[in-house]
Amino acid sequence: MQLAVNVDHIATLRNARKDVQPDPVAAAVLAELAGATGIVCHLREDRRHINDRDLALLRATVKTKLDLEMAATDEMKRIAIQTKPDLVTLVPEQREELTTEGGLDVKKHRAYLKSFIAELASQHIPVSLFIDADEETVSMAAELGAAFIELHTGHYANLSLMSAAEITAELRRLQHAAELGGKLGMRVVAGHGLNYTNITLFKSLRGIEEVSIGHALIARASLVGITAATKEMLRLLV
Ligand code: PXP
Repeated sequence: MQLAVNVDHIATLRNARKDVQPDPVAAAVLAELAGATGIVCHLREDRRHINDRDLALLRATVKTKLDLEMAATDEMKRIAIQTKPDLVTLVPEQREELTTEGGLDVKKHRAYLKSFIAELASQHIPVSLFIDADEETVSMAAELGAAFIELHTGHYANLSLMSAAEITAELRRLQHAAELGGKLGMRVVAGHGLNYTNITLFKSLRGIEEVSIGHALIARASLVGITAATKEMLRLLV
């Protein structure tokens, strides 16, 4: 399984001080140099982390694959067509949420999503739909012309709260959805809430090309970097 790194939280930290550091663009370069196969950023309507400047610079810098997560709005469509990311991942977006809270309601927005996907495809931008791992939704994603599906792993990610039987059932559900997605001609990736513990079982699933990880990876980076950063400051203080 390959790894796409979501750099949103680097921007969150930068914005906490209205500063220029840390820069999500620098983080993306480092993640790519370390072997990430893609960089993900979510441009939200409220620009709470990634902003338009970040997206433009990420587009100019990312060498692997830039995945722009966004809501299916006219504003975002215009930005995507102008920026030309390698992939657009459509996610539901609610103003008050802390992070994306669930998969897209593909059934409800069927006609709208179909024309949205077609318009981006006509501009040579493939679209991934962030969806729950159920048969009906996966089939509908294929009907709508999605090139990729990203399976929502948020339920699986809570495995510490689940029994062994529930974990097995959730993994089976994800496996089934991945196989169905592949059979229907889509490429399958997954993400949300994956971390250094729950990835061990997850990686045994077949047919999932890549995982998209943000929070756990950036959180780990901030801790494993503390020793080096402290030592560097101490050296300056001598
Ligand atoms: N995939 C999608 C569609 C997301 O919205 C997010 C969160 O931005 C992720 C993956 C990454 O989730 P996490 O930050 O929990 O690793």
